[in-house]
Amino acid sequence: MAEQNIYDNEAFFEGYHKLRERDDNANVLFEMPALFSLLPELKGKNVLDLGCGFGEHCMHMAQAGACKVVGIDISEKMLQVARAENAAPNIVYYQMPMEDISRIEEYFDLVVSSLAFHYVEDFEGLIRDCHELLKPGGILVFSQEHPFSTCYGELSEGKETESEGLRGKLPITLHCPENRWTRNAEGEKLYLNLAGYGLEGERESKWFVEGVKKYHRTFSTILNTLTAAGFVVEKTIEPLPTPELLAAHPEQADLFHKPDFLVIRARKKGTEA
Ligand SMILES: C[S@@+](CC[C@H](N)C(=O)[O-])C[C@H]1O[C@@H](n2cnc3c(N)ncnc32)[C@H](O)[C@@H]1O
Repeated sequence: MAEQNIYDNEAFFEGYHKLRERDDNANVLFEMPALFSLLPELKGKNVLDLGCGFGEHCMHMAQAGACKVVGIDISEKMLQVARAENAAPNIVYYQMPMEDISRIEEYFDLVVSSLAFHYVEDFEGLIRDCHELLKPGGILVFSQEHPFSTCYGELSEGKETESEGLRGKLPITLHCPENRWTRNAEGEKLYLNLAGYGLEGERESKWFVEGVKKYHRTFSTILNTLTAAGFVVEKTIEPLPTPELLAAHPEQADLFHKPDFLVIRARKKGTEA
């Protein structure tokens, strides 16, 4: 199946760009601190960033001492911003889908990916390719939407029979995004409506525009895929608010019901060169 390039959709890009300009977005508050906390020492390292977007992480890693950072992304619009705002002599950006990284003829000490893996259908292939591109002892650090988030989705009509994970028309109706939470009369979130967690596969939902495709995988699939490819899972984080953060952003207490992100650090077996 052809990969979706939704970030080049004008309306989507505009909405996403605005969201990322806010200094209280979830990336800034939770995802980036967790991801960065799992990065190894970067001095002299050769780094690959998959789904690099605006290139902020590439710049962070270059400034932290990486000798070379290769950022790849499927979206030309995202890369235009990256090249304009996060350029450095030791950063190179390529427009390329993650599904094609086996074409890269270079080896890396570190492969990083921030909130992009849930757009890839063939997770097994992607993880195998990451493993191939890493030097022995190399590190993979990635974040993705939490499996409790990706299991939702408004399935368009007929999808249930087409989707690999949903083949057989299971007697289940997936909650559409509007019904993600059960709320009290004041509209406060009481608990999460979880459905279809065990049904892996494509989900379609509205995020700035209709028809945004993401792929849901269970926790066990994610971890087992990593270990089967030859990785040792070293640490996982489901970022939660600290007391200080809660004081400034009380609405983030909802994360104790459902973390938004899953962040993983895995190491390729072998000894660092
Ligand atoms: C949520 S954004 C994250 C951007 C950046 N990693 C960050 O955290 O700031 C997801 C990025 O993944 C890219 N992406 C989605 N599907 C992709 C694919 N199949 N191959 C390469 N990049 C992809 C999008 O274009 C977008 O830039």
